[in-house]
Amino acid sequence: MHVFDTIAAVRSFLLSERRQGRSIGLVPTMGALHEGHLSLMRRARAECDAVVASVFVNPTQFGPGEDFARYPRDLERDARLAASAGVHAIFAPSMPEMYPEGCATFVDQGGEAIGRLEGQFRPGHFRGVLTVCLKLFNIVAPDRAYFGRKDYQQALLVRRMVRDLGLPLEIVLCETVREPDGLAMSSRNQYLDPAARRQAVCISRGLARARAALAQGERSAPRLADLIRSELEAAGPCSIDYVAVADPETLAPVETVERRAVALAALRIGGTRLIDNCPLEP
Ligand code: PAJ
Repeated sequence: MHVFDTIAAVRSFLLSERRQGRSIGLVPTMGALHEGHLSLMRRARAECDAVVASVFVNPTQFGPGEDFARYPRDLERDARLAASAGVHAIFAPSMPEMYPEGCATFVDQGGEAIGRLEGQFRPGHFRGVLTVCLKLFNIVAPDRAYFGRKDYQQALLVRRMVRDLGLPLEIVLCETVREPDGLAMSSRNQYLDPAARRQAVCISRGLARARAALAQGERSAPRLADLIRSELEAAGPCSIDYVAVADPETLAPVETVERRAVALAALRIGGTRLIDNCPLEP
């Protein structure tokens, strides 16, 4: 497996792949790889001839006071894991490679979905995400790029950018990979001490409870959200950013779940912020 740290080097590798008629898959990540990331890479490997995984802790998607400085970084470990998942090349650029001195062009998206939920609690976050994704799409020019449903709103907004700008690639969404107890895998789970780790399962438990209530006929979105909220509050001290039962496209709150909807939650346990979501299909 190759590890490239410059745009020129990864481009020259991809040029030769493309000349041989090979399709390209891209898996964007911030590293600290876990099974969730690896599942994206394996899927890319199954569907594309050459797979590039990017590892870049993108500063523009972190707000002041967030965990940019302490975000876990271990490129050697990431490279080993990516290789085991069949990745052909890692693109791990330096900061100035991605954001050259004086860089002043960013992606702004309109529409109502970007300002809701994560957008409300992390202003500017998606501007940074969309900007770095567009850069990566331009650098790698993949046929397909792989994203996780775990970050539901991110995947939705990236898909919208691709559609709005007519970008020549397909966004493939992959299921959330979970720990045996249900906690969605996340690089940030490393921050949890044992007690917080035990508590963290409340999110997936709350979402499962809402799904079970829906299956038993509960259609009221506020009541489904209350079920999730009570599960979060019962588990121990935490600060809930949001619990939402929302339209899957606009992320606007719905009153009743008569059509497909999505339940999403974000909370902080100690200093760690966790998010999760699940589809609600009546
Ligand atoms: P990161 O959090 O490293 O996640 C990289 C990709 O892995 C995202 O598409 C995310 O949804 C997916 N992923 C994370 N946990 C997962 C899980 N448990 N199951 C399945 N997929 C999972 O998301 C980002 O990085 C960044 O915002 C990025 C898109 C790389 C832009 O900087």
